[in-house]
Amino acid sequence: MLTRPALNRLKAYTPGLSIGEMNEELTQLSSNENPLGVSPLARKAMAQHLSQLNRYPDSNTTRLRETIAKQYNLQPNQVIIGNGADELITLISETFLNEEDEVIIPTPSFSEYDFGANLMGATIIHVSLTKDYQYDLDLILHHVTTKTKIIYLCSPNNPTGTYIKKADLDSFFQKTPQDIIVVFDGAYSQYAIADDYTNGIEYVEMGKKIVVLQTFSKIYGLAGIRVGMGISSSEIVACIHKVREPYNVNQLAQIAAEAAIRDIQHVEASREMNEEGRQYLYRAFEELDVSYIKTMSNFIFVHVGTDAKRIYEKLIHKGVMVRFGGVWGLSDYLRITIGLKSENQLLIAALKEIMNEIDESI
Ligand SMILES: Cc1ncc(COP(=O)(O)O)c(C=O)c1O
Repeated sequence: MLTRPALNRLKAYTPGLSIGEMNEELTQLSSNENPLGVSPLARKAMAQHLSQLNRYPDSNTTRLRETIAKQYNLQPNQVIIGNGADELITLISETFLNEEDEVIIPTPSFSEYDFGANLMGATIIHVSLTKDYQYDLDLILHHVTTKTKIIYLCSPNNPTGTYIKKADLDSFFQKTPQDIIVVFDGAYSQYAIADDYTNGIEYVEMGKKIVVLQTFSKIYGLAGIRVGMGISSSEIVACIHKVREPYNVNQLAQIAAEAAIRDIQHVEASREMNEEGRQYLYRAFEELDVSYIKTMSNFIFVHVGTDAKRIYEKLIHKGVMVRFGGVWGLSDYLRITIGLKSENQLLIAALKEIMNEIDESI
């Protein structure tokens, strides 16, 4: 096929199982969704809105942007809404990247950053996290050249759950050349409880060249309806609007997101449940003598060793779906979403059985 040459570097995305493919019996701990479900306020708002779906949505997502701006003490023209944060990554790439540009992407991290850069034919510079999967911001700065256009930072990072300390980001912004756009992906920021964590919005307020991404797919429980937000200066937001489709966010998504961000009870309950699950899983992994990386997110990157692929497959047979680390080239690891208490217990029971089976077969 005579596609653009840039497409030679692209592969179609391989997702975890989506709902249509999923066996109902399967416990889904592979996509970092909110196991508590849809926010009750969002569910009610969507139900009340069904009769209006003959109309086009608000192209300007006015009410949702106003709600978000109020929440973060910003102006509505500093907020842009996308069909998931995924779409915003593509829009940012389409807005800013030329073929001669370089994009710095931490590794391992979220695959869509590579997708956006490859789509535009830009050059990707991968910079590894440290051996214990922390960010090394000085190493990232070391890779900056006159061609660097975008630096991605993901905190808490997917798949490792590690985060960037505020003091480190402060000094990073002092050293970063003014013309580089920093995309700070805070898809999981609502789960981060460390005192020295920052969701990046303070740097928008300080006038830094940063786009903060957040999503309604995680703590807000709306992965199926696709809403993400970008927060930046009004100038950067205005540029990104130029490449946005007019009706990129459907009516139900706008209504649901507006209700979900106001549903403080649902957010608090989700955070609390995640925290309990995190502590339970830490203890359980320690008892199993399995090492893991401390996480500030709703998933844990677990080092199960050279049998990881086998364990992953055996977990599916026992009804539990997790993510195999091989997709990041880390085939000794599994990324496990923190689920409901019962789901976490099921996972640990299955893991125990599998590890005994493997021990016996040696
Ligand atoms: C780090 C990170 N950023 C962005 C996204 C995409 O979010 P959305 O569902 O809003 O497209 C994800 C989804 O898993 C993610 O892990």
